[in-house]
Amino acid sequence: MEIKLKNLKENILRELSEIKDSQLLEELKNKYLGRKGQLNEILKAVKDLSEAEKPRIGKLANEIKQELAEIFAQSEKILNPRDQQDLKFDHSLPGIKKDLGHLHPSTIVQYEIEEAFLAMGFAVYDGPQLESDYYNFTALNVPADHPARDTQDTFWLEGENLLRTHTSNLQVRMLEKYGAPFRGIFPGRVFRYESTDASHDHTFYQLEGLMVDKNINIGNLIATMRTLLSAVFKREVDVRLRPGFFPFVEPAFEMDIKCLVCDGKGCSVCKQSGWVELMPCGMVHPKVLEAGGLDPKIYSGFAFGLGLTRMAMMKYRIDDIRLLQSGDLRFLKQF
Ligand code: PHE
Repeated sequence: MEIKLKNLKENILRELSEIKDSQLLEELKNKYLGRKGQLNEILKAVKDLSEAEKPRIGKLANEIKQELAEIFAQSEKILNPRDQQDLKFDHSLPGIKKDLGHLHPSTIVQYEIEEAFLAMGFAVYDGPQLESDYYNFTALNVPADHPARDTQDTFWLEGENLLRTHTSNLQVRMLEKYGAPFRGIFPGRVFRYESTDASHDHTFYQLEGLMVDKNINIGNLIATMRTLLSAVFKREVDVRLRPGFFPFVEPAFEMDIKCLVCDGKGCSVCKQSGWVELMPCGMVHPKVLEAGGLDPKIYSGFAFGLGLTRMAMMKYRIDDIRLLQSGDLRFLKQF
């Protein structure tokens, strides 16, 4: 009887392996495992066995029954037409468009600028947004009572700490840490205590650049700015250079570009002037080099503080800075 059982199992498995539709599967199942099926016939005969054999064969028969039931259940799952329906592919249906996110417009511009600077041998650095008074102001030649502080009020924290007003906070930090020669850019978030309008926000992004070495001059500064602008705008843009004032650069300049939102006609972004302040810059002040541990008689350098948020506004002709931080998907999905 044991042999009979094992043969039966083998037969079933062989036949099963050839079956390709659920109807035949059902028939096969009835033939073997059904009430009047062959397996039950054998099981019925168990009661006629000797007392010695009964438990062993009975157990074996039940195990085989169990095992086959599972195999049939699995085969049914594979062949079941209801499951297959789910797999049917209707070529006429529109495709499923995944609603994936994408980079923020400021980040797109940031990455483009990073590419351009990496190609010029600059490295990209990050630094603290919560900063000490020293690195944000004092080390940059802006002492406690200096009126230049009024133009950059910010959110103050306990213990002379503040939310950094510009990415220039990294100038002295970087020089202290890496010394000269140094070539780096530092993109990041900055804060001002400011009432907001179309061109001002309390939180925005800048991208600072710093290059310090022997014999660095204004020519190097201007060539670098040019490379940067063509990398982002990929076309000629009108620029102008005016004298500016920042205590940490001397001489200081303001590099403006003709407003790309209104093509220089005047709008709320350029305050009706046709020009947008994009890139304050200048030659690193000797006091800043000293604060960074360098001898200004040996080293010189340039620094610039690009308004990354403004750059994104110019590139994409966005007419209100507040949209960028609004988190409004109707706005963000356009880029
Ligand atoms: N940190 C200045 C600002 O935020 C910009 C700047 C950077 C000016 C570097 C000169 C050199 O306004």
